[in-house]
Amino acid sequence: MKVLVVGGAGYIGSHMVKMLLAEGHEVITFDNLSSGHRDAVLGGEFFLGDLAGQAELDAVFVQHRPDAVMHFASFIQVGESVRRPDMYYRNNFSNTLNLLDAMVAHDVKHFIFSSTAAVFGEPDYVPIDEAHPNRPVNPYGRSKWMVEQILADYDHAFGLKSVCLRYFNAAGADPDGLLGERHDPETHLIPLILQAASGRRPEIQVFGRDYDTPDGTCIRDYIHIVDLCAAHLLALQHLIGGGASERFNLGNGSGFSVQQVIDTVEKVTGSKVIVVDGPRRAGDPARLVADSTRARAQLGWEPMFADLEAIVAHAWAWERKFSGDCLFRSANSQRKTRTSWNVTDQLNGIKATKIVAQEYVEIFEHIHEICRNSGEAHRIIEQLVERLKL
Ligand SMILES: NC(=O)c1ccc[n+]([C@@H]2O[C@H](COP(=O)([O-])OP(=O)(O)OC[C@H]3O[C@@H](n4cnc5c(N)ncnc54)[C@H](O)[C@@H]3O)[C@@H](O)[C@H]2O)c1
Repeated sequence: MKVLVVGGAGYIGSHMVKMLLAEGHEVITFDNLSSGHRDAVLGGEFFLGDLAGQAELDAVFVQHRPDAVMHFASFIQVGESVRRPDMYYRNNFSNTLNLLDAMVAHDVKHFIFSSTAAVFGEPDYVPIDEAHPNRPVNPYGRSKWMVEQILADYDHAFGLKSVCLRYFNAAGADPDGLLGERHDPETHLIPLILQAASGRRPEIQVFGRDYDTPDGTCIRDYIHIVDLCAAHLLALQHLIGGGASERFNLGNGSGFSVQQVIDTVEKVTGSKVIVVDGPRRAGDPARLVADSTRARAQLGWEPMFADLEAIVAHAWAWERKFSGDCLFRSANSQRKTRTSWNVTDQLNGIKATKIVAQEYVEIFEHIHEICRNSGEAHRIIEQLVERLKL
């Protein structure tokens, strides 16, 4: 089957591309690389494009004629969505509308949508099943809930069948060690604690120890990235097999507290993590745990890596690899400084603390070579860094 993976260069999308390819599907990744990484797309076709551009969307549908679309592309930070709702409604809602319209125009009928536990808001009960009321409390959650609602109308009017997967907390990394989480800024708990363990950040903050939970810290449901992607494959089979549009909550079903995650990280890594206690954050419920009974019953989904230690171990292998790369890059740049002007030095000068993805460093080095004139290359690279918001 030909699957268009929108946002396939991001954390979850890149793992999905790898799994689809391993299952023998043809994959086309469509991504604007606003937060994704070109080198995370391990195969298939890559189409650099933005959902805001209807012409780019048309081009990818005309060129590749996909059978189904998996849509991972969105902005993902709750706090930012409160400060910049305009950005979130535009990218997560209005741009998704562009994608759906392109699907209708090109007669593609199967759609899998990355939704979120944030469509529920403050829970009335846990574990949260699909019957729980939807009362999102921030623009991020509302933008996703808006998409879920219009999908019902697109099914009714155009026969576009969809599965909305509400992920709780996606976590872990590719067990083969080729992919992992690379958000910037990182806001997810497990990678943040692992970065504190590897020395990439000095400490980890815990927001509130007075919740009504056994150890006083918030409880969340962590779902391994491989299990999450496996649910997408089953959802695809469901739709291709003529299944109706559906919504499924996806989580492990067992929640872990922030303190339990810290303890597990210390056990897996053998490092002590420095913890700084802070006050509660507004809008953080004490518990968010999924009831995934419907996904298990209707899709036959069964998590393989429900154990927190496995999730942390895979994420730790990735963190060690990634933090090692960063050290290499910084050592490399120090070595080069002594000889002549070079791209790495320039990037370090532009953004001293920023880690620039290897793919960009390579592109910039290429520009440097072509220009054979460091002044000109310097100017072009500075403009690109500015334009690409690196
Ligand atoms: N990570 C989680 O724990 C989690 C939890 C619940 C839901 N989700 C949802 O899963 C999806 C994927 O999350 P992620 O963690 O992989 O995020 P991510 O930021 O790593 O990936 C998003 C990808 O979409 C691309 N993108 C964004 N806007 C685009 C646009 N307009 N045009 C083309 N490409 C665009 C980005 O470049 C990036 O590659 C998101 O929709 C998110 O809301 C994630």
